[in-house]
Amino acid sequence: MRAAIYSERGPARDVLRIVEVPDPRPGPGEVRVRLRVSGVNPTDWKSRSAGGPLPEPGQIPGQDGAGEIDLVGPGVDAARVGQRAWVYHAAAGRWNGTAAQYTCVPAHQAVPLPDDISFAQGAGLGIPFITAHRCVFGGGPVAGRTLLVTGGAGAVGNAAIQLAVRGGATVLATASSEAKRGLASAAGAAHVLDYRDPDHVAAVRAIAPEGVDRIVDIAIAANLAADLDVLAPHGTVVAYASDAPDPILPVRRLMVANARLEFVLVYNLTPAMLDRAVSDISDALREGTPRPLPELHFPLAAIAAAHEAVEQHAVGKVLVDIP
Ligand SMILES: NC(=O)c1ccc[n+]([C@@H]2O[C@H](COP(=O)([O-])OP(=O)(O)OC[C@H]3O[C@@H](n4cnc5c(N)ncnc54)[C@H](OP(=O)(O)O)[C@@H]3O)[C@@H](O)[C@H]2O)c1
Repeated sequence: MRAAIYSERGPARDVLRIVEVPDPRPGPGEVRVRLRVSGVNPTDWKSRSAGGPLPEPGQIPGQDGAGEIDLVGPGVDAARVGQRAWVYHAAAGRWNGTAAQYTCVPAHQAVPLPDDISFAQGAGLGIPFITAHRCVFGGGPVAGRTLLVTGGAGAVGNAAIQLAVRGGATVLATASSEAKRGLASAAGAAHVLDYRDPDHVAAVRAIAPEGVDRIVDIAIAANLAADLDVLAPHGTVVAYASDAPDPILPVRRLMVANARLEFVLVYNLTPAMLDRAVSDISDALREGTPRPLPELHFPLAAIAAAHEAVEQHAVGKVLVDIP
């Protein structure tokens, strides 16, 4: 099969190569997916840039993707052959990510994709939507709650807005430009503010005088002080990205508010958390909830440019079309 691969870590253009490698075969409990689109996330370039020893013959990047199941391993229902599916965690501890014509994953990591949802949209679900799901619902249902999502045009932030609105919350969001604020509004945020405007904290307070119940934060070090200015008593701040340097915790302010800090890493969710996320995302798909971000397509041969686009914070969902 044709695949993008790297056998040493470094800048995208230096280490990513397009090669022919043997087609993978599904093991027990696995399915093989003929990929059509691979989704690119920050985790893909971060893993490519730094880390421990690489597998042989190299690492095919890409956690997320979508395509059709074309083979099943022992113990998997043969009726799944031909099924359209979105794939998550394909490269988590595995060499065969989604930037390739085929990937093999445990059967539950190839989730049925409704016929009316494009492969491109399916390839944008995994990391962003599963992470967002945990960030939004990690404290339980959010119906009737007020949430603030910082970075509402980012892949995770945008998914968090959509899932929280679907869950019955009123969502406020932040974003830095008019175009990005438009994407956060389109996702369902009731109010979108420019976090670079020094008055945005007062604006959040005016909208939610009692404070917001839960904050899904992309940059806790940069935002913690502002978060605590708008957090309701007993509220929660959830962090899913580490923006260096680590914040100094304002313990007394957190204590007075009886505030909670939560942290999410999508790779270390329990099977039950993943199942719940996948089930809710699947329900949302059937209802037509997820609105995809603008798509930025790259051919497989240009995967280095796709990685660079994500590294340079492209606005929209970066996707690699698989030949
Ligand atoms: N913990 C996990 O499991 C997990 C899972 C997925 C992603 N991540 C991490 O989360 C980060 C975002 O991923 P992504 O795919 O959503 O990236 P993305 O699509 O590039 O979005 C990043 C967004 O963050 C916004 N932003 C940056 N600094 C901000 C600040 N101080 N306040 C508010 N917004 C801010 C940016 O918009 P502006 O121009 O408006 O600033 C941008 O829209 C990456 O570091 C990624 O590695 C972690």
